[in-house]
Amino acid sequence: MANDTSNTTKTSNKMWGGRFSAGPDAIMEAINASISFDKRMAAQDIAGSRAHAAMLAATGIIKTNDAEAIREGLLTVLSEIEGGTFEYSAALEDIHMNVEARLKEVIGEPAGRLHTGRSRNDQVATDFKLWVRDQFDAAEESLLALIRALLAQAEAGADWVMPGFTHLQTAQPVTWGHHMMAYVEMFGRDLSRMRDARARMNECPLGAAALAGTSFPIDRDATAKALGFDRPSANSLDAVSDRDFALEFLGAASICAMHLSRFAEELVIWSSAQFRFVALSDRFSTGSSIMPQKKNPDAAELIRAKIGRIFGANVALMMVMKGLPLAYSKDMQEDKEQVFDAADNLMLALAAMEGMVRDMTGNRENLAAAAGSGFSTATDLADWLVRVLGLPFRDAHHITGSLVGVAEAQGCDLPDLTLDQMQAAHAGITEGVFDVLGVDNSVNSRMSYGGTAPAQVRAQIARWKEVLE
Ligand code: ARG
Repeated sequence: MANDTSNTTKTSNKMWGGRFSAGPDAIMEAINASISFDKRMAAQDIAGSRAHAAMLAATGIIKTNDAEAIREGLLTVLSEIEGGTFEYSAALEDIHMNVEARLKEVIGEPAGRLHTGRSRNDQVATDFKLWVRDQFDAAEESLLALIRALLAQAEAGADWVMPGFTHLQTAQPVTWGHHMMAYVEMFGRDLSRMRDARARMNECPLGAAALAGTSFPIDRDATAKALGFDRPSANSLDAVSDRDFALEFLGAASICAMHLSRFAEELVIWSSAQFRFVALSDRFSTGSSIMPQKKNPDAAELIRAKIGRIFGANVALMMVMKGLPLAYSKDMQEDKEQVFDAADNLMLALAAMEGMVRDMTGNRENLAAAAGSGFSTATDLADWLVRVLGLPFRDAHHITGSLVGVAEAQGCDLPDLTLDQMQAAHAGITEGVFDVLGVDNSVNSRMSYGGTAPAQVRAQIARWKEVLE
């Protein structure tokens, strides 16, 4: 009954209501309760409680048989949650108190000993960190899968020529493999950002208690280790009020999402009838209910659109945090829905992009035809004038520009001009110039490190394969 706020709770909260004589107003309960969304952290909450209870017993703070009862009881609660029989209560506010209240029903008195030396403030920080940490791992997996799909495309078309664009105007010919590898670089940086942030966030807040630490002789190293953290966080005030880990996730997710959106945009353009650079698979396209010829790139469009939610979450959590004095404030409860939604949509977008990339077919003929149009080898002509005739580049640029003008007026491309027409622009031009006006020659000549030549592209593919092993 997570969302049931219709009936005003008459009694005070059984977890903290000692000093209260009346229960909350229905509206208070509605604005206060987080159980409708933080129940997603149930498994993390129970893992944190198990680690805490085991530590309390090991340090002699609670009795071993109480810890044993707590452990068994928590496992029962977990199986109820996983089995879908657990009854959530908005009156109990959040996942932490829902679990503890149910534990009390299952095992009785020992349940009340679990919260010794702990607060919901360090508890929620721990649960949320565990949840976000899983998202870093999931993002890493998805990014690796996407990178592998891009590498396969790059390998298949390492020497396919296509137009390279600046301002979305034909600039110079590039290779399909080179274009795919550009995205490998971007998603590779995303991967490294996720890994950096994950390493930085892996400190355990548990044991910071409400804000100041605790007078009980707890063992924070033990709980940190049990939960897979590298160490306990070093300052209890910071531990309960820090949400950098969530912001770093949203920041890394936002940049990754921006990359996904740019690629999605290219796929929308490339799959149009005007471009026909790629055919997207039926599995990642949809049809129109009225126009029988249509095959729409909906997955790419939705990736492009969903990205806004991730940026929005990033800004929203920044806004939540920016005005908060130390340490915990209830504002921080607003962290979760943003991150949950952003993570869900990032994983979906990554998976959809991986599927589209794996399935798509580059149209080699159309790519090649487009590569040769739009005076794409004008720079090669200018470079030839510099290299062979020894002209200053600025003069070469000017002569080439005049030849583009001639070709344009004639409605043809640069390789279609006659030697006479060329020589009218500069008398020194020889037959040899036509070699560099070919698209294949153009890309093969771009052998500088990181350039578009197939040999360079293949070297980058090999390097990435090594990195991934
Ligand atoms: N549901 C709360 C949250 O998500 C748990 C922490 C409550 N702490 C408190 N001092 N009221 O932030």
